[in-house]
Amino acid sequence: MHKFRIVIFAANKSEKMKELAAELNKQLNHASAEEILKAVTERFGNKIAFATSLGYEDQVITHMIAAVCPQTGIFTLDTGRLFPETYELIDKTNARYKTNIKVMFPERTEVEEMVSAHGINLFYDSITNRKLCCNVRKTNVLKRALSGLEAWITGLRSSQSVTRNNMQAIEWDEVNSIVKVNPLINWSEKDVISYIKDKNVPYHALHDKGFPSIGCQPCTRAIEIGEDIRAGRWWWELPEQKECGLHKASN
Ligand code: ADX
Ligand code: SF4
Repeated sequence: MHKFRIVIFAANKSEKMKELAAELNKQLNHASAEEILKAVTERFGNKIAFATSLGYEDQVITHMIAAVCPQTGIFTLDTGRLFPETYELIDKTNARYKTNIKVMFPERTEVEEMVSAHGINLFYDSITNRKLCCNVRKTNVLKRALSGLEAWITGLRSSQSVTRNNMQAIEWDEVNSIVKVNPLINWSEKDVISYIKDKNVPYHALHDKGFPSIGCQPCTRAIEIGEDIRAGRWWWELPEQKECGLHKASN
């Protein structure tokens, strides 16, 4: 009986938060990224945090957070397979903005069991193995990062991928049962690069070497001129597989 009541309470809370996300989106979807950040951090207080992968978009948001809502928590998921340049940028960013980006790691037993069963570079063997690795090294860690929060901020842009076309500035994240805030959702790649240059924002060294999108080292390559901006992510898979699970629309 007690358990039943908890389930109903959780379902009601989700419904309310879902309505809140739609309401905030209505109010703010034409606002500037800074205005969105200010409004949501005032609304959610210490129940909101920003997830950074240290890519171009995320550096823009870190710059804005430092200016308009510096108390906001920032975290990054260290899969254990990141590029050395990503680690360098964590330090550089903390030094420039006086931030303390929280670095979150996967559960060691999960990693050890996975590697023991499937090998260290299992992701090249099959889509199932690749998804397992993304779950262990990223999505499960994201769940832990989001637990206890009511909202999270991302650097997603709708023009990055067809899977992101319908995303909103503020939306309900069904998979993680949390409000999701995407302040740069309507920005173009050009907008992002101009902002980085204008404000002299520190950025990932690989962006100048043909990497528009940056993830794990073994699963990200540089792209050729004319290729899609996500062509370098899990490039050996079919295009429709190109999400790691951090941003699935539903289960
Ligand atoms: S992914 O799903 O394909 O890996 P992508 O690299 O495009 O995502 O990044 C989109 C957004 O997801 C980033 O702007 C950031 O908010 C979040 N994100 C991606 N990777 C990480 C990471 N390692 N740590 C924290 N946030 C991340
Ligand atoms: Fe593993 Fe590659 Fe996914 Fe990183 S991107 S978690 S290395 S499969």
